[in-house]
Amino acid sequence: MTKEEAKKRIEELRKQINHHNYLYYVLNRPEISDAEYDRLMAELISLESQFPDLITPDSPTQKIGAPPKEEFGKIDHLAPMLSLDSCLDEKEVEDFDRRVKRELGVDNVEYVVEPKFDGLSVELVYEKGVFVRGSTRGDGLVGEDVTDNLKTVRPVPLKLREGKVKIPDLLAVRGEVVMKIKDFEKLNEEMVRRGEPPFANPRNAASGSLRQLDSKITAERKLDIFFYDILAVEGVKLNSQWEVLSTLPEWGLKVSSDIRKCKNIEEVYKYHHEMEEKREALDFEIDGIVVKVNQFEYQSRLGIKTRSPRWAVAYKFKPKEEVTRIKDIIVQVGRTGILTPVAILEPVKIGGVTVTRATLHNQDEIDRKDVRIGDKVVVIRAGDVIPEIKARVHVEGEKRREKYHLPNKCPVCGADVVREGAYYRCTGGLSCTAQLKESLRHFASKGAMNIEGLGKKLVDKFVDEGIIRSPVDLYHLEKEQIAKLEGMGDKSAQNLLDSIEKSKEIELARFIYALGIPLVGEHLARVLAQHYKSLEKLASATEEELMQIKEIGPESARSIVRFFRQEGNRKVIEGLLKAGIRFKEIKVEKPSKIAGLKFVFTGKLESFSREEAKRMVEELGGIASSSVSRETDYLVVGEDPGSKLEKAKKLGIKIITEKEFKELIGK
Ligand code: IVH
Repeated sequence: MTKEEAKKRIEELRKQINHHNYLYYVLNRPEISDAEYDRLMAELISLESQFPDLITPDSPTQKIGAPPKEEFGKIDHLAPMLSLDSCLDEKEVEDFDRRVKRELGVDNVEYVVEPKFDGLSVELVYEKGVFVRGSTRGDGLVGEDVTDNLKTVRPVPLKLREGKVKIPDLLAVRGEVVMKIKDFEKLNEEMVRRGEPPFANPRNAASGSLRQLDSKITAERKLDIFFYDILAVEGVKLNSQWEVLSTLPEWGLKVSSDIRKCKNIEEVYKYHHEMEEKREALDFEIDGIVVKVNQFEYQSRLGIKTRSPRWAVAYKFKPKEEVTRIKDIIVQVGRTGILTPVAILEPVKIGGVTVTRATLHNQDEIDRKDVRIGDKVVVIRAGDVIPEIKARVHVEGEKRREKYHLPNKCPVCGADVVREGAYYRCTGGLSCTAQLKESLRHFASKGAMNIEGLGKKLVDKFVDEGIIRSPVDLYHLEKEQIAKLEGMGDKSAQNLLDSIEKSKEIELARFIYALGIPLVGEHLARVLAQHYKSLEKLASATEEELMQIKEIGPESARSIVRFFRQEGNRKVIEGLLKAGIRFKEIKVEKPSKIAGLKFVFTGKLESFSREEAKRMVEELGGIASSSVSRETDYLVVGEDPGSKLEKAKKLGIKIITEKEFKELIGK
């Protein structure tokens, strides 16, 4: 075959394959057998391997994963990815409806209702119809670059379909990546076979599978996606959520078939009820419905509050429950020594997922519910949270075991257990291997010292073999000690040593977080680092001083002071500093008037280039984006503005001149 002929055939094959993907994934109406589909794909792969320069990034063969990455890059979303306020009952939805009508000054509003998919939210960007990048939600403004991973998700088209609606010049679309329950169960069986911990629920499985540095692993997992929102679009005008949901499939983007337009709030209740019934029959998990005001004009009049729109709510389902028996009660010892009783259950399916354990929280909970080993109980599972025991089921005439009480010696290390409020705590500190393992895991985790390669299994081995007795020991490891552990070799030992070495230069905030002070999460650690700027100053702060800081309450203040007072903790810190930990300069955050505000530029600016302007916005904590959407705060207009000006006017976005912009940023 000549190259010319190959090119023609390749184009034909791609067209056919894309068409069959559309029939299969979007319309759910395949017209050919899997075998026929595989033949088309095989022919395309073969031709592309004969003529590799004919491979294009949007070819359907490019859905197989890329070389592994060291870490995920960051991607700015084209519009903030908002979250939703939740309603738990009809009354709360009624309040929402009343507020909407009052704000708009109308008697009735049309709503669009959709399933609330229990998965992980992503943004996909298509330029001129070609998929160019995709990211996780992250903090709503910036997410992780998972482009290569998303390419492997079967229903994600690498190229938008040419249908009745023109392909937009730019499209940022939001969707939810999910895993079907049956694929989740298969995956878990395999994880267990391989000796790896199974995922707790389909949502975690979807998230864990998408966020793989090696996208070839993502390609092996069966992920699915539903699209439901447009974050930015150029070149096509849409006026309502219903139009969005009708247009996305035209472009080959899969939308749920359970969507509906409701004339009033009563119809919304009816849909909620129907979906709650239908829920069990669906092959993926949903945890409620989403109710959205249909008209965009209304949506922009209602606007958003910090992170969620005023024009939409999630109307959650009641958590699912089932009855089973408690086979045993075990005790887990956490990072800070707290003993958590966990009920081991006779396996029971709740909403398609098999549950074998449920937390009992603490002694008070056990006493209040009076649950004992052997009891019949009601277990509830709400979305992603750990299953819980709701209540005991009274069985007439049944002989029960004695009351359960948490042990007064730690089941792991044998140290004394003391009661602190509602909790029981092991006093073993780092000499308790359970606490030590959890502390090391936390210490090495991403938001803390970020020691790559030090996973759960390796931590367990280090501790079980007695090689590591405190985080300080990490910094005195010898290569041979690591290399001779099962599953390790010279190369992986060296890699681990390199990442340990790399972790020595660290931001103060991360180090504070890594210490694992009870009640000090990533955010508080950052607040403390910004305030004190030095570890010594923080370590000698009093409760009163700490409480002067806006975000610190009496409990966290007490916890911080107590942590630094403890001899063992002081020794660890001293050891870490001696081992060579040093702190990076902290960038001082300037208070800024424009923090969190979103700017778009159009036309030529006089005093600086577009790139400079965007950088200035970002340095001041604002967001610079390239397209106007409902979430834009300011459009800055230069000479010869483009179509963005029209769009901003339509959406009622504040339009300012370059001079006004300079005043705003204080230049
Ligand atoms: S709309 C402004 N629609 O639920 C619109 N979200 O906090 C914001 N979700 O993070 C989201 N199904 O990940 C929307 N049909 C749906 C959804 C949905 C699931 C997720 C989304 C969001 C969370 C709510």
